[in-house]
Amino acid sequence: MPTPSVQPFLWGTATASYQIEGAVSEEGRAPSIWDTFSHTPHKVERSETGDIACDHYHRFAEDIKLMRELGVQAYRFSISWSRILPEGKGKENARGLDFYHRLVDELLAADIIPFATLFHWDLPQALQEQGGFCKRDIAGYFTEYAVLTAERLGDRIEHWIMLNEPSVYACLGHAIGVHAPGLTDLPSFHATTHHLNLAQGSALQALRSVNARWKLGTTLNVHRGVSADGSKASSLMVQRHNDLWNGCFLQPLLAGSYPRDILPELEPYLQSGDLTLIQQPIDFLGINHYSRSYILAKPEALLGYEHAAPPPHLPRTSFDWEIDPDEFRDTLLELHELYQCPPIYITENGAFFKDVLSKEGRVHDKDRIEFLEGYINAMQEAQKRGVDIRGYFVWSLLDNFEWACGYRPTFGLIKVDFETQKRIPKDSYFWYRDLIKQS
Ligand code: FCB
Repeated sequence: MPTPSVQPFLWGTATASYQIEGAVSEEGRAPSIWDTFSHTPHKVERSETGDIACDHYHRFAEDIKLMRELGVQAYRFSISWSRILPEGKGKENARGLDFYHRLVDELLAADIIPFATLFHWDLPQALQEQGGFCKRDIAGYFTEYAVLTAERLGDRIEHWIMLNEPSVYACLGHAIGVHAPGLTDLPSFHATTHHLNLAQGSALQALRSVNARWKLGTTLNVHRGVSADGSKASSLMVQRHNDLWNGCFLQPLLAGSYPRDILPELEPYLQSGDLTLIQQPIDFLGINHYSRSYILAKPEALLGYEHAAPPPHLPRTSFDWEIDPDEFRDTLLELHELYQCPPIYITENGAFFKDVLSKEGRVHDKDRIEFLEGYINAMQEAQKRGVDIRGYFVWSLLDNFEWACGYRPTFGLIKVDFETQKRIPKDSYFWYRDLIKQS
């Protein structure tokens, strides 16, 4: 009997284009919906924008040097669609692609495996003006962009992640409206939910047929719900949250169906063959996890409920997200039990804690270290109990533009002084470096 090959476990960090790149109007890049949204007054705290962000577009070599010193074996970043195709489709922008050529070459020279996410929420504005993900033709445009990008960069990038957290994109961007494109109506929300799945399926199928060697996957945010007030009404809404947030993306991909209770709401957008197209084989599943979701029934809210803060006695991060590594372990075990999961990468996990710069210019972020230690232990417990996990990516390498909250929430292993763009590795950076060295 041949011995099964042992896959090395990959330690990494993650970022996303709009959150770190800056250079929003350089070398042919056109606006994305996040440029439009952040430049609309009162949408982002203090009206901050990603115009400069971490200036990673110009400083990527310095950032990769820091990653090399950190010792990570993999790096998850995302590609800005409107750098590659400023109009979202049609004519490609060679100068935008060149940036990613330089980035990938530098990563490979540093011995770091690139994991590229094709869509981390920054849809070209030009496509939003034609309906964005509310319209079915987005599946074709996304596929065209995915194939073009993978053809240009796929000789050096093997791992491709189709979407980042479609549930967050659909829900926060189209129902709650606190993220771009800022819509708040049920038809947009339902249509977007289905069209994200459709776009993903169509791109997976196309990429697979172009190059069977690529490792294809997608990244889902899995946050299970719990009642915020113990009421019967909230418990019912917990099920609705679990369906809309988790089930609507896990289930069609891994089991070929939508959650039964949600199906009538999605039916107007479904065409025959859609569920077959969506259920594509994947080489890996990316899981992002931060915390459990506290759900409060609210009949007047668009979805019938809202997200609430955890009860006051529970430990939490500075984002008011509950700290509970056991919940992370149990989420992974449940996934393993419910679905025939392919190998899993934890493509994001991390925490915002308010950092303090000491007189000596250091950040002693003990709470972040404790958080990461707890969550990594929980992941390892799940592995011991049979969940096939191949890697872990800390969110995030750098403090960055945290969407509607601007630069306030700091998730980085590296502090960024946004006045000077100075990078200051925090204690958690050195802790993670030692953990990687020892494993
Ligand atoms: C996730 C996003 C990521 C970052 C973290 C904190 O939902 O994918 O871009 O904002 O949360």
